[in-house]
Amino acid sequence: MAIEAFAPAKVNLTLHVTGQRADGYHLLESLVVFVGVGDRITVSEAADLRLAVTGPRAEGVPTGPENLVLKAASLLGGVGAQIVLDKHLPAAAGIGGGSSDAAATLRALSQLWNLDLPADNGLSLGADVPVCLRAAPCLMSGVGEVLTEVPVLPPLWMVLVNPGGEVPTPAVFKGLARKDNPPMAPVPAGLDAPAFAAWLSTQRNDLEPPARAVAPVITDVLDAIAGAGALLARMSGSGATCFGLYADAESAACAAAQIKEKAPAWWVDHGALGSFS
Ligand code: C5P
Repeated sequence: MAIEAFAPAKVNLTLHVTGQRADGYHLLESLVVFVGVGDRITVSEAADLRLAVTGPRAEGVPTGPENLVLKAASLLGGVGAQIVLDKHLPAAAGIGGGSSDAAATLRALSQLWNLDLPADNGLSLGADVPVCLRAAPCLMSGVGEVLTEVPVLPPLWMVLVNPGGEVPTPAVFKGLARKDNPPMAPVPAGLDAPAFAAWLSTQRNDLEPPARAVAPVITDVLDAIAGAGALLARMSGSGATCFGLYADAESAACAAAQIKEKAPAWWVDHGALGSFS
């Protein structure tokens, strides 16, 4: 029996850094959504634990115990499985590639092995794993472990753009000018896509300024997205992936084609926001 699980890209529509804990981890408030662009995990029965990585972004992905997929398998505590990770998302890119893979692995293996999900929902694997396990829009707070429901969002489409080169998350957090930024406003209900994007533009990703300092190309990416008619252009997570929001599929597809033509070396993809768990 083979079980498949989709690992969608995670996008922080907002990311407010509101404080820092004694252990160094930052307190966040983030509106997190998922896009129909991502990796695919397939698990099947095997005598021992094996991982194979395939797909257009397989190069450079570790296949040893440092891969979050194998860490997720160990956390669950089952015996053997053949795991295939079909990799489409860039790594260390602010869209939760590794965390989403780990969450999809937890989902697929808990089914294969008939085991409960870990009590911490995978938080010990990474701050973004619990939200990726939900794979649906939600408000994330604490250091990533407090998840609350948000009002239904308007239908939205997204273009994701990554210029290449990994941006180390700790370096971006370290570059924050202040740790006690103003909190996020409550997410409004009942807005259409343009009004919702206008509200989002009153909120922030506090990691954008330090990430632009670490990787100045992020500014070019944001300019390219804004120039391709997005309702909003912003960076996700600690970068370097940025997103453009659109009110329909066609506008997103046109913008993606336009950006690809302008910068053929960049990774560009597009999809609809949704729930994938
Ligand atoms: O948990 P994760 O592996 O995703 O975090 C990567 C790094 O990002 C941490 O080592 C830490 O430096 C930083 N981080 C943080 N506060 C958070 C989440 C991550 O400072 N809430």
